[in-house]
Amino acid sequence: MCGIFAYLNYLTPKTRHEVLELLVRGLKRLEYRGYDSAGVAIDSADGKDMVLVKRSGQVKKLEEAIAEKFSDLCNEEQIDIHCGIAHTRWATHGVPSEVNAHPQRSDDHHSFVVVHNGIITNYKDVKTYLTMHGYTFESDTDTEIIAKLIHHLYKQHPQYSFRELVEQVIQQLEGAFAVAIKSKHFPGECVASRRGSPLLVGIKTKTRLATDHIPILYGKVPLLPRTESTSEFMPLEDKQVEYFFASDAAALIEHTNRVIYLEDDDVAAVKDGALSIHRLKKCLDDPHAREITTLKMEIQEIMKGNYQYFMQKEIFEQSESVVNTMRGRVNFENGTVTLGGIKDYIPEIKRCRRLMLIGCGTSYHSAVATRQLLEELTELPVMVELASDFLDRNTPIFRDDVCFFISQSGETADTLMALRYCKQRGALIVGITNTVGSSICRESHCGVHINAGPEIGVASTKAYTSQFISLVMFGLVMSEDRISLQQRRQEIIKGLAGLESAIRKVLKLDPLVLEMAKDLYQHKSLLIMGRGYNFATCLEGALKVKELTYMHSEGIMAGELKHGPLALVDDSMPVLMIILRDPVYAKCMNALQQVTAREGRPILICEEGDEETKSFSSRALEIPRIVDCLQGILTVIPMQLLSYHIAVLRGCNVDCPRNLAKSVTVE
Ligand code: G6P
Repeated sequence: MCGIFAYLNYLTPKTRHEVLELLVRGLKRLEYRGYDSAGVAIDSADGKDMVLVKRSGQVKKLEEAIAEKFSDLCNEEQIDIHCGIAHTRWATHGVPSEVNAHPQRSDDHHSFVVVHNGIITNYKDVKTYLTMHGYTFESDTDTEIIAKLIHHLYKQHPQYSFRELVEQVIQQLEGAFAVAIKSKHFPGECVASRRGSPLLVGIKTKTRLATDHIPILYGKVPLLPRTESTSEFMPLEDKQVEYFFASDAAALIEHTNRVIYLEDDDVAAVKDGALSIHRLKKCLDDPHAREITTLKMEIQEIMKGNYQYFMQKEIFEQSESVVNTMRGRVNFENGTVTLGGIKDYIPEIKRCRRLMLIGCGTSYHSAVATRQLLEELTELPVMVELASDFLDRNTPIFRDDVCFFISQSGETADTLMALRYCKQRGALIVGITNTVGSSICRESHCGVHINAGPEIGVASTKAYTSQFISLVMFGLVMSEDRISLQQRRQEIIKGLAGLESAIRKVLKLDPLVLEMAKDLYQHKSLLIMGRGYNFATCLEGALKVKELTYMHSEGIMAGELKHGPLALVDDSMPVLMIILRDPVYAKCMNALQQVTAREGRPILICEEGDEETKSFSSRALEIPRIVDCLQGILTVIPMQLLSYHIAVLRGCNVDCPRNLAKSVTVE
């Protein structure tokens, strides 16, 4: 959770005004990660001190405060070398407030200021230690101990370099973090590190880079030999360089596409314009260098375009994103499917004792949605697990288990911890993520990138349909040589081929869905019922409604109706039912009759031209007919649209719902 953005310009003159603009723009791109308070730190006009500006609320509030505080900044001269750090917060320790916002500082003189993402689990012990040494704390955050501990060490060891101080400090920290640190004592330098939370460094130079690899230095502080210039990245002749530190590539793609993904316990330091990456210990399988990756992401991909909200854009992108997920994988001509990222592991997977699908939130629902099909195509037991509950139960895991970790961000803490739990026990780890280079990607043995493109809206939409398709493709790969399943496989591949146009048709329901939203938005509750392949849509639809509209909503397995939920039904309770011509049609009709008999007036999602079903209700959304196991992709879209419209009608912040964050990197 939280977003870090830092910017260092070396021999690339910038005014402080320009620096602030850059920092705020970076924060806006990261706002989906958390948005209850924000702050920046830059040098003072004379370069001898620092100025911190922090505000509660969204980045916009911070922007206004900056505009007010620095109204005369435009006429200032450019500075050759400068480092600024910024942060947008999602509170874990301490309520959202100005004093708890980051940067956190070591003292009134701003010796060291820190922006931090994650949780320091031993912060109380460190705080007690520092209090004994005369430090007083101004905030309730765990972050403040980092700034103060560096300061404390600095006073004891003034000969240490900035990077050495940070290296010492991170050894004392437990928990998950990413940090970027700036110091008055080390002007023009920035040090950043991570453990368990994502952080990447963007590099922008005018001339081409001399190398694509930053060698890693190993050693123990303070015995570490002084940095050798040969071991550092240094821009070519003109020496002009800009560095960006960010929690996510989306924040820096508009400046550069050359990035380095930091690994746990890397300490990245910029001094005299040179970037070096250090690690304290060398592991056997460590590479000798960190590679500079060229990002393929386009800036347009993360812009809103003509849409009012990112979520709306992402819903409408689904006709394309599903195609991107299948691109180069499904060959519609000869009916074959190849998943390059897991190809070599398929024989091992076929020999496994069971498949476990693990995730949180929407990602978990994609597992629920495809479970039945995977059971059918793999003929293996398939367990579907919420990562948090899976860990709570200390679930038994064996060497011959295959565990799938499904996560849009690839950084969700619960999912990542479950992954590590299974990996320790010798299971094969398969990652299904949307974020290349994410922790889940890197820690998996193999995996599938869902290739849905960046998803900015906090409520997940296109990632869900792409996760769904990725799992379907996996099922198709597993059943490739099963003669008895060939007809079924071809039926599914045909369904996949028709998805793009089927999704376009469903998206045309938008005006009708808006009309339904107008009927529903003032209600307190919405029940969504279905079963079989469409039960996951009920859960996912209800989650979307809750997340976006703050209305109560429940996804109900229609088979369970008579075991309790039917008591909720009367003429005033809004109900939506999914009734398609699939193997559970008769059972769904039974549920529909139970609801109408209690004077319920359900909205129906049914198949195009199904007059018989439609006759039970005055309101219906008709979706194109498609193979049963892919119906869930089409039925979830009206639910996404409905929750979107209800949220807009209720005046909710669609892209940044209250109390939530896109990437939950805390347990
Ligand atoms: C958060 C988001 C949800 C998301 C879940 C899992 O709770 O608000 O929308 O489904 O995390 O995220 P992941 O990135 O692992 O798919």
